[in-house]
Amino acid sequence: MAAILSVSGSPSATSRTGRLLRHVDARLVSGGHQVSTLDVRDLPAEALLRADFHHPAIADAAERFRQADGIVIGTPVYKAAYSGLLKALLDLLPQYALAGKTVLPLATGGSTAHVLALDYALRPVLTSMGAAHIVPGWFTLDKDITVDGDRTVIAAASAQALDRTAEVFSAALTTGVGALAATA
Ligand SMILES: Cc1cc2nc3c(=O)[nH]c(=O)nc-3n(C[C@H](O)[C@H](O)[C@H](O)COP(=O)(O)O)c2cc1C
Repeated sequence: MAAILSVSGSPSATSRTGRLLRHVDARLVSGGHQVSTLDVRDLPAEALLRADFHHPAIADAAERFRQADGIVIGTPVYKAAYSGLLKALLDLLPQYALAGKTVLPLATGGSTAHVLALDYALRPVLTSMGAAHIVPGWFTLDKDITVDGDRTVIAAASAQALDRTAEVFSAALTTGVGALAATA
């Protein structure tokens, strides 16, 4: 069993990215992992905007990254990149905050024209932060994530792809590829 931190970089109170993450979190819990969540929008805005590295909430977030074996990072695509909110947090974490971690990048967006944002914008930052293993991510169209009462409904093809993505992440955590890379 791995300890996973599931991080949402959406500023939205009705976030589709958040709903997507909860869907993936549930799959990971079913796979025997322990998942805790971090919504960057819940961190103090002033600390994020003023780069207050020493704010207790920022220090606590950094510690939660440190303690996790695996990190799921979800972001909406904004202006063909990941969200500024997510960037604000990443900028406050130590340079190698992802050292030894297995990371799963996820994105939601309005256009498949920006599927590549995961790989040309987010992945290089995760690499530069020392991630030991970044498994293939997944981009989900916002229209494929709908709400039925309290329930999140994800279009069948997207749900299937997400399940597969979560399985690959889970297997990477279980085989400990990231941990091996960290000690190499
Ligand atoms: C300011 C802003 C910029 C956006 N820019 C893009 C974009 O460049 N490409 C894209 O595919 N979708 C874009 N979108 C659509 C969002 O990525 C999409 O609706 C996403 O699912 C929103 O996630 P959220 O509900 O978690 O915030 C943008 C949305 C907003 C509000």
